[in-house]
Amino acid sequence: MSLILGIESSCDETAAAVIENGVIIRSNIIASQHDLHRRYGGVVPEIASRAHLEKIHPVIHEALDAAAVTPDMLGAIAVGNRPGLIGSLLVGLSAAKAMAWALNKPLIGVDHVQAHLYAATLRKPGDDSPPPQYPALGLVVSGGHTSLFLVSSPTQTTLLGKTIDDAVGEAYDKAAVILGIGFPGGPKLDKLAQQGNENAYDLPRPMLDADSLDFSFSGMKTALLYKVRGNPRGRGADTTFQRDAADLTDQQKADVAASFQAAAVQTVMLKLTRAVNHLDAQGQRPRSLIVGGGVSANSRMRSQSIALGQQLGLSVHLPTMSLCVDNAAMIAGLGHCLWQQGRFSPLDLPAVATVSV
Ligand code: KG4
Ligand code: ZN
Repeated sequence: MSLILGIESSCDETAAAVIENGVIIRSNIIASQHDLHRRYGGVVPEIASRAHLEKIHPVIHEALDAAAVTPDMLGAIAVGNRPGLIGSLLVGLSAAKAMAWALNKPLIGVDHVQAHLYAATLRKPGDDSPPPQYPALGLVVSGGHTSLFLVSSPTQTTLLGKTIDDAVGEAYDKAAVILGIGFPGGPKLDKLAQQGNENAYDLPRPMLDADSLDFSFSGMKTALLYKVRGNPRGRGADTTFQRDAADLTDQQKADVAASFQAAAVQTVMLKLTRAVNHLDAQGQRPRSLIVGGGVSANSRMRSQSIALGQQLGLSVHLPTMSLCVDNAAMIAGLGHCLWQQGRFSPLDLPAVATVSV
């Protein structure tokens, strides 16, 4: 039996988890910092690293205790070392290195974005739903990433397209700020959208050029800004608007939220369809669709992904809600696959802020 400890601290969640045989969740502890960042309307990197420092030891202890695992039982220590906020990554990485060295266990550096694609494979004990079939089309939709991959196996992915500006979760968060509905914006906007009319406002569905599998969400966000505040007058620091979100009725806000959600999700679905067609034309038609990242918790993203899978004949794999957002279970799970391949990391493994694929 393999027991892998996973550690995750790339952004504003301090997390640790123990995974058995790469699939079964023995424990999954997440300490969120949302309360610390709420007043700033976004994640403040310096505050995030300090909070990770306070939380990392208790969270690791809790993950081991909840799994009824002692450190000597672990096969390896897996840690998300890329990409993310550098100060945040360093906290989890330093803890993982110290444990690996002190316990004389292998250290395994894991890519956070690839790990999001593994989250849908993880199971609670007793749940034997089938794993994804490969090759799969992989979609990571989060606060930092909107990326499409050809997934040949959990450890072998090829990037097909990514956002050229805002990530979809970032666009959700900014749209929520424009609507004045609070932080973190994605889940709030999702809830509000359910009371609105998605046809009330016409927002763009940016496709870039005819063949592109890249995404762009900043135009959609700016279009929403103008719907809420009216067309701008003046330029730069002197720009003024006719109104702001406080002048909208609750129903109008819900209608803006619903229209935005419809535009954002439809854009993603159109790209997924395009990607399947591209891969099909190259003789690599995917058998499954795997979705991961914070925005895979979105109600419409989930329902539309399932509908698209049915339409295109792909099995659809979404993480359970607690594994959509940042967590260490996905790090430990993918760590297990790397461990099986002997892909260990040296103790001078660096933290890397940027995406490596
Ligand atoms: O994966 P994640 O925890 O962090 C990154 O790796 O970026 O994703 C966080 C993002 C945030 O932008 C958050 O607003 C968004 O996921 N999110 C949602 C929902 N739940 C979380 N966006 C839309 N609808 C949701 N229900
Ligand atoms: Zn993430």
